[in-house]
Amino acid sequence: MKRKYSKIKGLLLLSLLTCWGCAIGPKTETSDRSYLNHYNVQHEVIALHAGIASASPLASKVGLYILQQGGNAVDAAIAVQLALAVVYPQAGNIGGGGFMVMHLADGTNRALDFREKAPVSARKDMYLDEKGNPVSVKSLAGHLASGVPGTIAGIFESLCYAKLPFPKLIQPAIDLADKGYLIEPGITDDIGTVDSKYNTMPNVFDGTHHWKTGETFKQTDLANTLKRIRDHGRKEFYEGETARLIVEEMKRGGGNITLQDLKSYEAVWREPLTFSYRGYQMVSMPLPSSGGILLNEMLKMIEPYPVGSYGFGSTQAIGLMVEAERRAYKDRAAYLGDGDFSDIPVKKLTNDVYLKTQMSDYIQGQAGVSKSLGTGKQQTESMETTHFSIVDKDGNAVSVTTTLNMQYGSQVVVGKAGFLLNNEMNDFSLKPGTHNASGGMGGTHNSIEPGKRMLSSMTPTIVFKNNKVVVVVGSPGGTTIPTSVFQTIVDIIDFKMTAADAITKPKFHHEWLPDVVEIEDGFSAETLAGLQKAGYSISTVHGSIGRVELIKVNEYGQLDIVADTRGRSDTSEGY
Ligand code: DON
Repeated sequence: MKRKYSKIKGLLLLSLLTCWGCAIGPKTETSDRSYLNHYNVQHEVIALHAGIASASPLASKVGLYILQQGGNAVDAAIAVQLALAVVYPQAGNIGGGGFMVMHLADGTNRALDFREKAPVSARKDMYLDEKGNPVSVKSLAGHLASGVPGTIAGIFESLCYAKLPFPKLIQPAIDLADKGYLIEPGITDDIGTVDSKYNTMPNVFDGTHHWKTGETFKQTDLANTLKRIRDHGRKEFYEGETARLIVEEMKRGGGNITLQDLKSYEAVWREPLTFSYRGYQMVSMPLPSSGGILLNEMLKMIEPYPVGSYGFGSTQAIGLMVEAERRAYKDRAAYLGDGDFSDIPVKKLTNDVYLKTQMSDYIQGQAGVSKSLGTGKQQTESMETTHFSIVDKDGNAVSVTTTLNMQYGSQVVVGKAGFLLNNEMNDFSLKPGTHNASGGMGGTHNSIEPGKRMLSSMTPTIVFKNNKVVVVVGSPGGTTIPTSVFQTIVDIIDFKMTAADAITKPKFHHEWLPDVVEIEDGFSAETLAGLQKAGYSISTVHGSIGRVELIKVNEYGQLDIVADTRGRSDTSEGY
């Protein structure tokens, strides 16, 4: 998705004008089930009390509806996660997994891991050919590509912080699946083509109908699955009829998830990864995501330098940040994996002295060198993960990134259950020293083991100043996720940008190997020439870097809610 600045500015201005009206005007009564109405995409809203930014206008509307019905940020997060499985099946899911970072108004911060796990029968070499070379396609498409899904376990685990009864939270998703929603050009129209693209799907969503733009997309099988979960809870997914259908699907397609794998799946509360940056407190996701650790490493590596005074987009600022990215991503490949399976030196990697030492060979105006541990290969990133940020009227905040991994995951729909399974097994390092499809260079700590969680890059993060939430942020984009979050935070804290600018200004990405700076359109010719003179190899990205959903508390205490214009459908809602 190429970015068009004038159009974006126009859109932002327009939404600002319209949304100021609804934010400070009389509170409009929400008619019940208003989320079923035809939708509008709006990238920015300023709200007085509460709001949400997500990749889907319908899901954001569901979030707003729940917030206005008396739900808190956790209620809204549960309803939005379920709605995304219906209205954004490219990435929203009940057949995948993700992470939630939560701040409760009483001051508690929590991090919930509902990442998928390798089935018990998974083996280190399961995607290698007889010569020991990775056969990535087996970990990307079809029944062997899926980890044991964690989303439903995550939802029920977080329910203890919700206020509304679960049936109320799942009802919008049921309605949207049952009654359907309009397939919009450029927004949901690829649903119409998904069945012809992927022949591994025995039964696309609900059957044989080829959905087209302008039709109402109904998912009866999925609606029935959601109704069973409404009536019988978590157990239904992991031990009941849905579990039976998943296992039946596995048998049909030669997959390896068993009833025992499903029964033994648990979401896990982790100690959030916390650190400070220039007087702000960061709360982010720990292992099995690399996201929080990378964010910590990168921010701390640049903290001793006056990056704000270099100016946004300057050769100096980009050079410094690229060097921090290079060093952090090297650590990702060398050390990171599921901390439940190996001893990962997180304390050392996030130690201030270590990080300072890492930058001791940084020379301003001179590109560093990435010494290869294996072969580096440029990856095309896709955006098929999704993030949403929510703040409620009481000051609770939730940052959730959830994924099937690539677009439509493994492409396998669970027959008669109507939902897609993930292809998260590709996030393991199939062979140390090779990249996965999300761009991650794999090390031995991330090799496949039964019951292990694959290393992620998802970086749901909440930023505080004086113990008050100031930013809720996250993004999809594979290994570009930590850099997108890193740069959004630096744009806000160091370059003093507004929320809208922090989203729309161009981003760049370096991940150690390949030794290339990927860069979005929008930096000056002078900056690019300066980087080349310093010795950087520059590659213009064809898509975009990140798709950040951001809530920032502005200087008047209002919520500036911005959904990334890199995604056509990303929408902010608030009141
Ligand atoms: O967990 C991860 O880091 C990946 N599964 C995220 C994938 C993503 O953002 C989309 N594609 N590259």
